[in-house]
Amino acid sequence: MRKLIAVIEVFVFLAFIFTGCAAPDTQEEDLIVIGMSQTGAESDWRAANTESMQAVFTEKNGYRLLYDDARQQQENQIAAIRRYIQEKVDYIVVMPISESGWDAVLQEAYDAGIPVIIVDRMVDISDESLVTAHVGANFYAEGERAVAWMENEFPADQEINIVHIQGTQGSSAQIGRTQALTEAVEGNPQWNIICSMDGDFTQAKTYEVMKEYLAGCEVLPEIDVVYCENDNEAFGAIIALGEYGYRIGEGGTQIIAFDATKQALLYCREGKISVCIECNPMLGPLVESCISAMERGEKVDRYQYVDEGYFTSVDITDELLDSRSY
Ligand code: AHR
Repeated sequence: MRKLIAVIEVFVFLAFIFTGCAAPDTQEEDLIVIGMSQTGAESDWRAANTESMQAVFTEKNGYRLLYDDARQQQENQIAAIRRYIQEKVDYIVVMPISESGWDAVLQEAYDAGIPVIIVDRMVDISDESLVTAHVGANFYAEGERAVAWMENEFPADQEINIVHIQGTQGSSAQIGRTQALTEAVEGNPQWNIICSMDGDFTQAKTYEVMKEYLAGCEVLPEIDVVYCENDNEAFGAIIALGEYGYRIGEGGTQIIAFDATKQALLYCREGKISVCIECNPMLGPLVESCISAMERGEKVDRYQYVDEGYFTSVDITDELLDSRSY
């Protein structure tokens, strides 16, 4: 019998050689294939988010992660999703650049029977069942935290001038954070948005638009608050303001930043950033537990939000900084 098995094995081996096929790797076949479409690499937050996904979706954990960097273009994300559908991946994970424009491609994934998990930002679709789950942040709640800090920081009768630097237009992070500020300004007659700009969540763009704005002012305005919709925008704004002689910090121009990356927390301790509103990029483990629950045949919650807080200089301990990996 053993001899017969050995002969069959040799025969199968030779058949693969002559037909040009590689012998199937059973381990490889067992892996759960994830097709991931990432927004790009615009910020430190984004790099941490990608790393968090790559750290959990490893072969050791039973996964093969296909990664696509959309370089800030929604059409690249749509093309990647269509490729993943053709490749018949097991799950599609998307960090959407903007909220609109997803109905058609998500319907295609749904028709192909591939579950889609939306991570970080949200999509605005007419049929929510096209998305199996959303794992991310509540950006409006983050904005409310920033506004609450301002209400606490400034006396109600004090006139304050705000420069608003928005993130990528149409992204959930921009929409939620902007909406919270807009509503607060409507409710506080003493608050004036003296300038609103698009910083696209990057340091370079923010530095550029901030300098352009200041260069165009006949008289440099008094700026009490710069509401930056992420840390990298804050870094760019701080440099530009510094070049124009603004005093940054309490008693001068106060910077609000979203994300709470390590560099921003360090700036906060130094007083360069007055408040860091946290946005947690470490979403990999939550997405992984969602997928492994589905693999076990369990139903998962459609909306899963991460816990987040905020930090001012008094909260920035060495322990906090040491524990911050991003
Ligand atoms: O969607 C999350 C936002 O996108 C983060 O605040 C920002 O840094 C990132 O690029």
